Amino acid sequence: MPDPTPAPIPSPNLSVCPSLDLSGDDILVVGIAADDGDASMLTPSSTMVDQACGGRLAAWAQQRDGLKKCGHITMTTMPIGDQGLTTVVLVGLGRLEKLTRDDVFRAVASSVRSLSDTPCQSIAIGLGLDVAPSLHDGIAAGALFACEYQSIYRKSSGHQLPEQISLAGVNDQALHRGRALGHAINLTRRLVNEPPTIMNPSEFADRAVAMASDVGLKSETWDEAKLAAENCEAILAVGRGSSSPPRLVTLRHDGGGDQPPVILVGKGVTFDSGGLSLKPSDGMVDMKCDMAGAATVVGVMRAVAELNLPLNVVGICGLAENMVSGDSYKLGDVIQTRSGKTIEILNTDAEGRVVLADALDVACDMNPAAIVDLATLTGACMVALGQEVAGLMTNQDDLASAIESAAQTEGEPVWQLPMFELYDDKVQSKVADIKNVGEGRWGGAITAAKFLENFVRGNPWLHIDIAGPAFADSAKSHRDAGATGVMVRTLVRWLESSC
Ligand code: BES
Ligand code: MN
Ligand code: ZN
Repeated sequence: MPDPTPAPIPSPNLSVCPSLDLSGDDILVVGIAADDGDASMLTPSSTMVDQACGGRLAAWAQQRDGLKKCGHITMTTMPIGDQGLTTVVLVGLGRLEKLTRDDVFRAVASSVRSLSDTPCQSIAIGLGLDVAPSLHDGIAAGALFACEYQSIYRKSSGHQLPEQISLAGVNDQALHRGRALGHAINLTRRLVNEPPTIMNPSEFADRAVAMASDVGLKSETWDEAKLAAENCEAILAVGRGSSSPPRLVTLRHDGGGDQPPVILVGKGVTFDSGGLSLKPSDGMVDMKCDMAGAATVVGVMRAVAELNLPLNVVGICGLAENMVSGDSYKLGDVIQTRSGKTIEILNTDAEGRVVLADALDVACDMNPAAIVDLATLTGACMVALGQEVAGLMTNQDDLASAIESAAQTEGEPVWQLPMFELYDDKVQSKVADIKNVGEGRWGGAITAAKFLENFVRGNPWLHIDIAGPAFADSAKSHRDAGATGVMVRTLVRWLESSC
C-alpha cells in the first residue's frame, strides 16, 4: 500500500520592513501593553493603527479590560485609510519591561494561530516596533512555529496558512536567526508527528541526510551491516524484533577548525511498543514520539548549519524500533555493547538507554569537548517534574549550569536531578556489568541516567530527559497538540554561548 502524502512543512515568505505598512490589504498584528498603573496602553504599533483609523482603536480598547494581559488575543476590524475595513489582531504584551523572549515567541505564535480560520494571504506584524531588538528573532521564529500543525494527513487541513508575513521594525540579522530557529523547531516537530510506520529508522535516517545535504552538513548513515561491523550490538538487540532494521546517523558541522567537537546524541526509538515487556495501549498510544531526542538533534543541527556557528558540532541519532517478534531481545538476555561492557536486560521497555549505550560510545571516540544527550527516556521523569519540565542529569555541574542558563533565557523550563553516588548500586547486575533497570520504580529518571553515565568514559556529559515536554496531549493558544520542538531554542542558545 502506498503511504499517504503529508502536507509540506509550511514555509510562508517572511520579510522585514522598517515600519508597519498600512497601505496594503494585510491583516495587522499589533501590541497592547499595560502601563505602570496596570491600565491598557497603546504601543508604537497600535498607535500607528489608531492614528490611521481616527482614534477608534484606542476608544475600542478602552471599553474592554484584559486586552493587555500577556498573550491575550482579540480581533477587531477598523477602517484604515482608503482600504475600508481591515482586520486587526491585538495581542496583549503586559508590562513591556517584563517581557521575555518566550512571551514574545508565544504572543506572535498565538496571533498567527488566531487567524487559522480567517482566509488571509498576508499578515503584517508590528511587534518589532514595540519590543526590544534583542527579542526580535523570536517574532520570526514564533510566526513560523505557528504555521505547523499535527494534522499533516488531512485531505483539507482545516486551517488557513498565510503566504506572506512581513515583520515591521525587524532587522535582517534577527530575521535570519528567527527563521533558522523556526524551521529547525518545525522540522523536529514534523519528524515526531509523522506516524511510526512511515517514520521508521531508515526513513528517519533518509530525512536527516536529505536535510544535511540541503544545508551543507556532512552526514553518514550506518545500516545494520555497518552497525554489526562497529560492534553496536546494543542498538541491534533493541531493533531485532522489528522488520524495520536500526540505523545510526551522524551529522557534522565543521565550523571550529581543530577544536574538539560538541556532540549531541539523540534517542531515536521510532516506535516503542515496550517489546516483550509490552506496554498497555494507553502507554503505547503516543510512542511515535520516542524518537523526539533524535529529532531534536536533527533540528538543532539544521539551525547550527544555517547560522554557520564557529564551532565543531556533531549530531548522532541512535535509531531503532522496539517491537515484538520471535527475534525480539528477551528479559534475562545479556547483550554485548560497543564499549565492551555487557548489559543484563530485565525489562525490554527500558530500551532507550540500551540504544544510547552504543550511540554514546560512538560519541566518545570523537574526542568530545562535551556530550549532551536528549531522550524521551523515562515516565519517572514525568512523575518527578510533570509534563512541561525537562530533567537534567550530569557528571559535570558546570555543563548543567550553562544549559540551565540558556534554558532560562529561552523560557524552556528545566530542572536538575541529583546524581549522588548512592544511586550507582541500583544498576549493578549480578550477571553482567550493568542491568537496564533500577531497583523498583524509585528514582527511575536518575537510575536511567546512572546507566548512561557508564557509557561516557568520564567525558563531560549532560543528559536531558524530555519525556514530559517533547509531546503535548492538548493544544495551547500558541501551539497545536503533538510534538513541541522543546530544547531546540535552548541548545542553539547554549551552542552560541560556547562560541
Ligand atoms: N519511551 C519510554 C519513556 C516515556 C514514557 C516517554 C512516557 C514518553 C512518555 C521509555 O522507553 C520507557 O518505556 N521507560 C520505562 C522504563 C522502565 C521500564 C524502567 C518507563 O519509564 O516506564
Ligand atoms: Mn520503553
Ligand atoms: Zn522508549
